[in-house]
Amino acid sequence: MRVLSGIQPSGTFHLGNYFGMIRKMIEYQEKAELLCFIANLHAMTTVFNGSRLARDTIEAATTLLSLGLDPSKSILWVQSDVPEVTELTWILSNLTPVGLLGRCHSYKDKVAKGIAANHGLLSYPVLMAADILLYKTEIVPVGKDQKQHVEIARDLATKFNHTFGEVFIIPEPEIEEGVAVIPGTDGRKMSKSYGNTIDIFCEKDVLAKRLMGIVTDSSPVEAPKNPDRCNLFKLYSLFVDTKQKHNMRERYLCGGLKYSDVKKELTEIIWQYFSTAREKRANLSQDPGEISRILKLGAEKARDIASKTMAQVRTKTGVAYGA
Ligand code: ADP
Ligand code: TRP
Repeated sequence: MRVLSGIQPSGTFHLGNYFGMIRKMIEYQEKAELLCFIANLHAMTTVFNGSRLARDTIEAATTLLSLGLDPSKSILWVQSDVPEVTELTWILSNLTPVGLLGRCHSYKDKVAKGIAANHGLLSYPVLMAADILLYKTEIVPVGKDQKQHVEIARDLATKFNHTFGEVFIIPEPEIEEGVAVIPGTDGRKMSKSYGNTIDIFCEKDVLAKRLMGIVTDSSPVEAPKNPDRCNLFKLYSLFVDTKQKHNMRERYLCGGLKYSDVKKELTEIIWQYFSTAREKRANLSQDPGEISRILKLGAEKARDIASKTMAQVRTKTGVAYGA
């Protein structure tokens, strides 16, 4: 089974990225053929600073490797190191109705936030479809917000196969319901653009401060509290086993619980949870050459797959001509 996912290099990664996507990929490398790339071309729709993009690309790779992505069990590369993806984007563009792109939630949300409505932003889902289809992906684990994009990839694969002949596999999105949307400190979806994130590798005092900022209700200490409507409980549940979750639920229900105590406990739990990754990251950061080497090796493997698909695509579409 071939599983693929991409992540935009955004500098810092937060718990939403981790539980929504990264952790699942790390689990997949044990049971499937995992392909994972850093979507630097997608990042260009919003990042207009060359040195920042380059730095964030290395940073994203360092983060993934620190958190457990293992290049001997998976393929990790940078999107632009496989140029076939832009060729396929162009070919798929000719099958993509402009109206469909204009109606995408993600596009509309970004434009509503004031991001320039340029052609790259509009055709973002076509590049994403190319990412998925180029590698004959079967499963795409993503957060809920990316589901529509995977559906577009499915539509384009079907349309291509119907128009030119069978080449592409129809990919399936995989969205784990329990962790579909990780809440941020204000209860909305955790997202860089809302400024409500808890970063995986922030300093401990920053972590404590961010957790203290989690919005909770204003019921008095002695009142029983509803864990199911509490962001703090949702976040807590991500890090603990069933028994600990059950105990915390009881503490909520009986009354006498201080949210600030839970926030302090959770600070320690999160700090501990990422301690091995933090050490690994410190070591890897000493050796950026090693990270580039891993990425180039990954790109060679990815290109191997991509070039085979593109040979078929070129033949079917007539881009390959003559003898
Ligand atoms: P952000 O919203 O901070 O810009 P991205 O859009 O770069 O995050 O998300 C990268 C990946 O992490 C995507 O697969 C996305 O679905 C997932 N993800 C991001 N935030 C969350 C969240 N709050 N809950 C679940 N998954 C998330
Ligand atoms: N658009 C995705 C995001 O912002 C990243 C991405 C790019 C991706 N290409 C992909 C995810 C292909 C899955 C498959 O999170």
